[in-house]
Amino acid sequence: MHLRTILLAFALATPAFAQEPDAQAGRDIYLMQCWQCHGQDASGNGPMAEMLAITTPDLTRLSIRNGGVFPLEAVARQIDGRDPLLAHGGEMPIYGPFLDTGKSVALRLPSGQPMMTGLPLANVIVYLQSIQVE
Ligand code: HEC
Repeated sequence: MHLRTILLAFALATPAFAQEPDAQAGRDIYLMQCWQCHGQDASGNGPMAEMLAITTPDLTRLSIRNGGVFPLEAVARQIDGRDPLLAHGGEMPIYGPFLDTGKSVALRLPSGQPMMTGLPLANVIVYLQSIQVE
């Protein structure tokens, strides 16, 4: 059997596999789309950060700055960017059309409520969650 056929058969046989948010896949997206501003270590020191009028936030301290709780919904909204509340001339690009796509998966909010987002966005979010400093 051709390798691609085998891989396709595997993907079709294990739909649950593709629906789990994956921090490693999120890291790949981060290192393509986000590091230029937020920095390779996400501390806010990327090469483009100094060209921006406002400080690029340190993404490893989102939990600390929120009293020890990862602010999942706010993070999702900021990355998505399509929330009109955020349309205040912010310098952060809008990623919703690129990342909130494909199959929706459930992320758990601090309240325990599930929040549905497209898989690539969920991947980025669980990656950011995985790099929070204590
Ligand atoms: C062009 C530079 C730039 C790029 C590229 C960029 N960001 Fe940002 N980001 C910013 C700036 C500037 C802010 C602060 C926005 C504000 O305060 O309006 C921000 C804010 C954020 C926040 C909110 C932080 C907080 O303190 O609440 C998150 C989360 C975030 N970015 C994630 C990402 C992710 C994930 C990507 C890639 C998909 C990305 N950013 C790409 C510049 C960038």
